[in-house]
Amino acid sequence: QIFRIEDYRPSDFIIPTTQLTFALDGDATVVTAELEIERGEGATANAPLVLEGDELVFESLAIDGKSADASSFEVTPQRLTIARPPQAQRFSVTIKTRLDPTRNSTLMGLFRSNGVYCTQCEPEGFRRITYFVDRPDMLSVYTVRIEADRKDAPILLSNGNLVESGMLDGGRHFAVWHDPFPKPSYLFALVAGDLAVLRDEFVTASGRKVALGIHVEHGKQARAAYAMDALKRSMKWDEEVFGLEYDLDIFNIVAVSDFNMGAMENKGLNIFNDKYVLADEETATDADFANIEAIIAHEYFHNWTGNRITCRDWFQLCLKEGLTVFRDHEFSADQRSRAVKRIAEVRTLRAHQFPEDQGPLAHPVRPRRYREINNFYTATVYEKGSEVVRMIRTVLGADDFRKGMKLYISRHDGDAATIEDFLKAFEDASGRDLSQFALWYHQAGTPNLSISSVHDAERSEFRMEIEQSVPPTPSESRKRLMHIPLAFGLVGEDGEDIEPTSVEGATVENGVIHVKKRRHLVRFHGVKSRPVLSLNRGFSAPITLSVEQRPEDLLFLARNDSDLVARWQALTTLFTQSLIQGFRMVRGQKQPEFDHSLVEAAGEIAADRTLEPAYRALALTLPAEADVAREIGANIDPDAIFIAREALTDAIARQNRETFRSLYAELDDSSTFSPDAESAGQRALRNTLLGYLSAADDDPALAANQFNEATNMTDKAAALTVLAHRFAGHDATKRALDTFEAQYGDDPLVLDKWYQTQATVPGEAALDLVKSLTRHKGFSLANPNRVRALIGTFSTLNQTGFHRADGDGYRFFAETVLEIEKRNPQLAARLATALRSWRSLEPNRQAAAREALLAIAAPKDLSSDLRDIVERTLA
Ligand code: ARG
Ligand code: ZN
Repeated sequence: QIFRIEDYRPSDFIIPTTQLTFALDGDATVVTAELEIERGEGATANAPLVLEGDELVFESLAIDGKSADASSFEVTPQRLTIARPPQAQRFSVTIKTRLDPTRNSTLMGLFRSNGVYCTQCEPEGFRRITYFVDRPDMLSVYTVRIEADRKDAPILLSNGNLVESGMLDGGRHFAVWHDPFPKPSYLFALVAGDLAVLRDEFVTASGRKVALGIHVEHGKQARAAYAMDALKRSMKWDEEVFGLEYDLDIFNIVAVSDFNMGAMENKGLNIFNDKYVLADEETATDADFANIEAIIAHEYFHNWTGNRITCRDWFQLCLKEGLTVFRDHEFSADQRSRAVKRIAEVRTLRAHQFPEDQGPLAHPVRPRRYREINNFYTATVYEKGSEVVRMIRTVLGADDFRKGMKLYISRHDGDAATIEDFLKAFEDASGRDLSQFALWYHQAGTPNLSISSVHDAERSEFRMEIEQSVPPTPSESRKRLMHIPLAFGLVGEDGEDIEPTSVEGATVENGVIHVKKRRHLVRFHGVKSRPVLSLNRGFSAPITLSVEQRPEDLLFLARNDSDLVARWQALTTLFTQSLIQGFRMVRGQKQPEFDHSLVEAAGEIAADRTLEPAYRALALTLPAEADVAREIGANIDPDAIFIAREALTDAIARQNRETFRSLYAELDDSSTFSPDAESAGQRALRNTLLGYLSAADDDPALAANQFNEATNMTDKAAALTVLAHRFAGHDATKRALDTFEAQYGDDPLVLDKWYQTQATVPGEAALDLVKSLTRHKGFSLANPNRVRALIGTFSTLNQTGFHRADGDGYRFFAETVLEIEKRNPQLAARLATALRSWRSLEPNRQAAAREALLAIAAPKDLSSDLRDIVERTLA
């Protein structure tokens, strides 16, 4: 079945209140749902009441309190239909269903994770709990009564405020929760289990006391301290920056170990993948800390952008996700280094969203059709969705953006809204027309700007020719012209920006060219000497650029651009171009060679104390193999890319060995650990240098030493990775791997790092290693974190191992995906996207990848999740 946006119609019935009673039991939980039902405005006369279900076991139905006659309704696991509901304006239905949470391996609906009962309802999991009008515009006020064994589940949580609790017979107890805010079913949540809790308190700007609780496995409370701190900072930040306060007396977070995604913003009861809650210096890396901070903030920010204002239908997913990602990006930028955060965002967008936009799974930020909504929780909806919101701010300016946000929230609080509503608020607040801009929501594909420029000294004029194009994407062959805000600078010899006296050919405001036509010839007057053109500063638009720039100009920007993002980009472009040349030399049986000035610049940047260490670490990180592959675009041979990248690493390492060595020693930080951005930046730089120095020395000693001395997981994991990737088979490597396993064997989240490191060992040997690790005692195909650490990492990050020339990597992958699909279709579908760029491989690998995709598509009873992905990938 295909769902289309134009088919949206308000429901014939609304459900003002929902009362749920859960009699929790491991394999026979009984759910009683009492729904108050009214006819909606403009409801079709004589419309049947149709409630959705998913694999439900029906027990009984009562209408207005009276047991319903079997002939008065029809019920299947997927649907409950009452052909002739009572004529009254308001009536009630009471439905009993029976669930088996222990055997629910899909992790949707009600399931158990390490014995803890928990739920995941977004997007369509509520219908696995009871029959309902399970769509995001069906707002209802929920009262939830939970009954459970006291020993099994001393903690009973749901949304909103606790109104009552007490004892029952037979060692059972109960709690009643009431959420006064009408909400869609996807925000319903329940947790019951034996958990420890870390408590704190937050007082909002207007003086409301909020009781905060983070519930984790016993013994792990201390590891929740950073998440708690991040939560309080998020609450404060949203008040200060967006003027948005929390609205209930309680805010709970629960960490569970089996979760398909990062986390979930259920009203007043966020449920998290424990990976994004638990951290301390011994078990978590700086990247883990940064992720926790971002995801805690993200889910908290949803309270306004998502919960108070939700989505009319799932086509509008980006309304809450893109906006909330933008908000969490801004939060992290304020808490950390703005430039470093922005560069990290650009890297993520290019690594995850560009390949999606440029491949068979491309879709608009707001899609118009889907077969399986679960497959649209994508980098396009989330990350590109956030970029679009950022561009609205660039186009309107910060002041009008703030006004637009305020208007959007005051106008739509309590609504299930659309992207049109969102854009209208900005148009009304600013008086601008955003109709061309709106194409960013509606058109898939990464726009390209092709730019050439010339300086005319005689006329003191700088001319720029800009041409836009949007490549065709599945089912959208013709594209309309877009409004692209391109931030730029004309950098003079002294490194300062040149201010032209006037401009013709395009609207240019605050350093931004508004590209709106196919072609612009932009003339900058009063430019006496030739400037160097700095483009897409701050990554103002999520586009690709085709520009011929002289290497010496790029090098100049890499040293002088006042915009750090563009400065980093200039260096990255030079590295990428060198790697592509190196790749061609390898393919032509030649030894790759690199430009000496670039190799030297790397050392200079490493030692430049005017730059933050975190920035220097990013600058010295060569483009990943997949980045290079994406730039090459077609006929990819991952082995040749790997060889070229190794050669450039060696060249940089050898040339700058002494600089790197003294910096590495200097950065040695044995003071007390702090996860703050500055300390993390120093560790990042030092660990980047460790990689280079180990290459220069061709000796595991330095990494082995760091591994043994490390007092935090960041330094330890970095050393382990250098050992495993560069010195496979060495005694030092075997010792380190064994030590790590012995030390963290019973700490699954840490053991995941051990799987990840081995899953990314370059070359053919990785496959056997990964296969053997699937039999490791800590591994399980039932746990999404384990699967992603080993299989997900192998298939997305190990270019030479996964894309082995003989196709064995793909064959193993297809078998594993099908195995996982039996329990958890969503996880399998997500994994399968690793093959989305198969058409850009060289012919032999392409054929082998296609075979694997066909093998995945073969079973007749494939889930709709996996079938949707694999068929679109092959189409
Ligand atoms: N709304 C959640 C978040 O971003 C994601 C939940 C998606 N879950 C799913 N099963 N598709 O913050
Ligand atoms: Zn979200």
